[in-house]
Amino acid sequence: MSPHVRHWGLIPAAGVGRRFGATVPKQYLALAGRPVIDHAVAAFVEHPGVAGCVVVLGREDGWWADVSAYAGHPDVLRAPGGAERCHSVRNGLDALAQRAADDDWVLVHDAARPCLRRGDLDRLLEALHDEPVGALLAVPIADTVKRAVDGQVSETIPRSALWRAYTPQAFRLGLLRRALDHAESQDLVVTDDASAVELLGMRPALVECSADNIKITRPEDLPLAAFFLEQQQETPC
Ligand code: C5P
Repeated sequence: MSPHVRHWGLIPAAGVGRRFGATVPKQYLALAGRPVIDHAVAAFVEHPGVAGCVVVLGREDGWWADVSAYAGHPDVLRAPGGAERCHSVRNGLDALAQRAADDDWVLVHDAARPCLRRGDLDRLLEALHDEPVGALLAVPIADTVKRAVDGQVSETIPRSALWRAYTPQAFRLGLLRRALDHAESQDLVVTDDASAVELLGMRPALVECSADNIKITRPEDLPLAAFFLEQQQETPC
């Protein structure tokens, strides 16, 4: 990797958290003394190997300025959200391009994942050293997985080759922009960044991470995240 290549965080935070069902979007709920989103942003802003980050916010979002300690931070840019996560990420790339080069690595990380461990981020950055495509944090699936049709099992899928795709997911800015534009041109709404790159025929690397890097989706996830953060204080990395 050439020494001038930098790493940037991109935090899509323009979702409304429909499945969570709170009046405040889940990324702004309080968790261990700060909003959920600030845990995600801190992982990048406070990492010495990351040059800065962009947060992608809903167009009507007044919460960021009200509650985030990073609103106004010089290393944190803002971009407007889109209809789906992939559109929000695409907008974030445009904003990042003011400061970042096409060859720079962009680490896309959900605002709703507040428990990213420094050690897992370090391992992901390490994996990028000799990685031609890109890489994502992921966890092997422990449960047996069923495909369903009309509420009945149609198939049991062998789990040995299955992983849960987590974030961050890291790709070079130029490649990720091309991949997301390609997916959109095919009318495909991809639910993670790696899927867009896979559609170009490329194979991102999986980097195993701790299973506590959960995405807050339902109300019961919030106390679980609080528990994980407490545990991480006691056993960091
Ligand atoms: O909805 P889900 O939890 O899968 O969203 C993952 C991340 O993408 C969240 O941080 C959410 O705020 C963000 N998102 C976005 N723009 C959208 C939808 C989701 O930035 N239109």
